Amino acid sequence: MTLAVEIKNLTKIYPGRGILNKAPAVTALDDVNLEIKKGTIYGLLGPNGAGKTTLIHILAGVLLPTTGTAEVFGHDVVRKAREVRSLSNYGAGQGSLFWNLSPKENLLYYAKLYGLPNSEAVEKINNLLEFFGLKERANLKSAYLSSGLKQRVKLIKTLLNDPKLLLLDEPTLGLDVDIARKIRAYIQELSHEKEMTILLTSHNMYEVDELCDEIALIDKGRIVSIGTPDELKKQVSEFESLELSFSNYDGDPSSFLDDLVLRSTFRDGALVLHVSDIDSSIDAILRRLLSHKFVISSINTRRTTLEDVFLNLTGRGLK
Ligand SMILES: Nc1ncnc2c1ncn2[C@@H]1O[C@H](COP(=O)(O)OP(=O)(O)OP(=O)(O)O)[C@@H](O)[C@H]1O
Ligand SMILES: [Mg+2]
Repeated sequence: MTLAVEIKNLTKIYPGRGILNKAPAVTALDDVNLEIKKGTIYGLLGPNGAGKTTLIHILAGVLLPTTGTAEVFGHDVVRKAREVRSLSNYGAGQGSLFWNLSPKENLLYYAKLYGLPNSEAVEKINNLLEFFGLKERANLKSAYLSSGLKQRVKLIKTLLNDPKLLLLDEPTLGLDVDIARKIRAYIQELSHEKEMTILLTSHNMYEVDELCDEIALIDKGRIVSIGTPDELKKQVSEFESLELSFSNYDGDPSSFLDDLVLRSTFRDGALVLHVSDIDSSIDAILRRLLSHKFVISSINTRRTTLEDVFLNLTGRGLK
């Protein structure tokens, strides 16, 4: 089996509440189909209220689907909830710890729930507390930790049962830049070295772009598009642009760049080159220009971002 997650025609409707229908029913997921390959990092990207958390909650077994099915490593999340739980773990940026227990006590509590032998749990917890810079605060009441520190503890909790599928809802929300970066690197390491499958949600398109092998763009409960970051970008724009100015401008360099670019034009004294991918073509272009004795005074790049993709596909931004 190559799939970690297989979702078919999944719909989730939160029923309406109150007389006069004060809280009308909400279709949070609308006929979602999704496949996540084993060992990959998969991103769910979408604006507030898109249905990301709802989808993760269904996979984590804390919400029931209205219709449709979801399987984790071939186990149905409703009928085989126990198997699914032993193979996965779930962590949310916003979530709580037992405030009157220390990080270490919180983690030991979860390790016990997961059935870890005590000595293994203590060693694992100590190593992870050290890695995430929590060693000094390991025995402090969790109520005294900042939200970023609590978030690190919650991430450690998700790793205690060595899950094969890790579900992370906004794992770096509100964290300092350095610890967010560290967590991203750790997520990559888990995927590459432990072959863990990771499904994460985020508003942060740069994070998703950097981390994810595949992305589903979701809006109003529907999947808008699925693909690798590059495939999604190619959907909205066939090219990226490179804008170069020269301090010794002498002649038109376009003729000897023909084989390296899709198109070249001059705009406001700068050479604008259209290429299919800046990263893979910039080196050859610069070498060619330098070999023809052009002195480059500035370089500007215009890359397609996932924000462009989202704006293009939904007509609005991610916030
Ligand atoms: N318990 C609930 N009862 C009723 N409606 C809900 C409930 N939870 C979520 N919703 C609604 O379902 C839709 C999807 O919400 P969800 O939390 O899944 O979105 P999200 O993509 O995670 O958003 P965010 O980026 O803000 O976290 C929203 O319209 C939301 O208001
Ligand atoms: Mg959410």
